[in-house]
Amino acid sequence: MANVVVVGSQWGDEGKGKIVDWLSERADVVVRFQGGHNAGHTLVVDGKVYKLSLLPSGVVRGKLSIVGNGVVFDPHAFVAEAAKLKAQGVEITPDVLKIAENTALILSLHRELDGFREDAASNSGTKIGTTRRGIGPAYEDKVGRRAVRVMDLASLDTLPAKVDRLLTHHNALRRGLGHPEVRHETIMEELISVADQILPYVDRVWKILDNKRRAGARILFEGAQGTLLDIDQGTYPFVTSSNTVAGQAATGSGMGPGAIGYVLGITKAYTTRVGEGPFPTEQNNEIGEFLGTRGHEFGVVTGRKRRCGWFDAVLVRQAVAVNGINGIALTKLDVLDGLDEIKVCTGYRLDGEDIDYLPASQGAQARVEPVYETLEGWKGTTAGARSWNDLPAQAVKYVRYIEELIGAPVALLSTSPERDDTILVTDPFQD
Ligand code: GDP
Ligand code: IMO
Ligand code: MG
Repeated sequence: MANVVVVGSQWGDEGKGKIVDWLSERADVVVRFQGGHNAGHTLVVDGKVYKLSLLPSGVVRGKLSIVGNGVVFDPHAFVAEAAKLKAQGVEITPDVLKIAENTALILSLHRELDGFREDAASNSGTKIGTTRRGIGPAYEDKVGRRAVRVMDLASLDTLPAKVDRLLTHHNALRRGLGHPEVRHETIMEELISVADQILPYVDRVWKILDNKRRAGARILFEGAQGTLLDIDQGTYPFVTSSNTVAGQAATGSGMGPGAIGYVLGITKAYTTRVGEGPFPTEQNNEIGEFLGTRGHEFGVVTGRKRRCGWFDAVLVRQAVAVNGINGIALTKLDVLDGLDEIKVCTGYRLDGEDIDYLPASQGAQARVEPVYETLEGWKGTTAGARSWNDLPAQAVKYVRYIEELIGAPVALLSTSPERDDTILVTDPFQD
């Protein structure tokens, strides 16, 4: 029996929320270990749509859910998300949700700084296309050792000095960027006004997880974003500000690396990306429009249209390596139903040479040209299939070809947004 880490193997939005929700039936605890409310995870249960950004997808089933120390936590966004879920019939209580006491907070000044930088960069054509949620600035302050953390909400005697320290840094930045300074009282009020709504959830999460692990509980780690958005392994600088890869599941929850068992890479049957940055197989044409329309490819958090393109086996093969992916959950195969032919990128050409990896440099990433293999499409439908035998032969061929190219097997196959339209090939918890 293994604990399972779910990670995105592309640029995010692979269907992690759906798969975590499905798997959470078999889990005892679900843990978010990085990112923040830049994530947008969609679950569809009997036609009812839940969109989660900060909370682990396990909350919808009422599973013990944990916000780990690797997350950056916006307390006001949490309160809003909990209220939204309550209106949908999902009650978040301190019995169900625990927030690690050592988690760094996202404050309004982080969100503002994110926006100031993106606005300034838009004018010079160098923006990242962030979600503007303050994720990058909050991680900067964490690493810069000046963050306000969740536990600080309980220590009103030491909080003012921490806020002063933070403001010394931020007000210097804001002056430099030509924006008004933030007052100490503003941030104190922002924190004090929300403290009572957060503190009941705050706990010594590493201890809870250690006890659970010793008791043989099944732990499901829910990644956000995707491997190509990882701060080290991704398409830097067009990435998010955290490690999104599987190794972070241990660090970001306060467990040892031995707690990571099976690594499940959530993989879309084609490729999408939101925001700026290289995208070798992007189809800025009717194929991209078809994929976007059929796949409803609009961002959950910002509503932005997602860029769409063919499946890129080079990227996913690399994701298999850097995460130690044991198997993938292949999602959205149904979006390809009815296409006459389907292209798959099997390698790149860079400056006249064939390569089988994504180079690390920004310039080279922008220059690589995809090399495609063209496969015949299928006439029947995979949408809503719940058994392998229901799949058209040509669709099975596509799946098998992908497995071969990326060097990992399909453990789960998803054929619609609905929770139960999922085919189990190998149970990651049993593998
Ligand atoms: P996440 O960020 O990885 O959790 O993914 P998102 O929720 O942002 O985006 C995935 C979208 O695809 C959501 O709208 C899901 O409801 C939907 N989805 C997930 N799996 C499938 C599938 O197999 N087929 C189809 N058609 N849609 C799916
Ligand atoms: P889920 O968990 C897709 C992208 C943003 C931008 C870059 C940096 O739903 O898969 P940030 O706000 O993190 O500083 O933005 O990362 N991005 C995502 N793209 N899915 C996500 O999350 C994303 N979270 C961030 O669009 O390009
Ligand atoms: Mg998403």
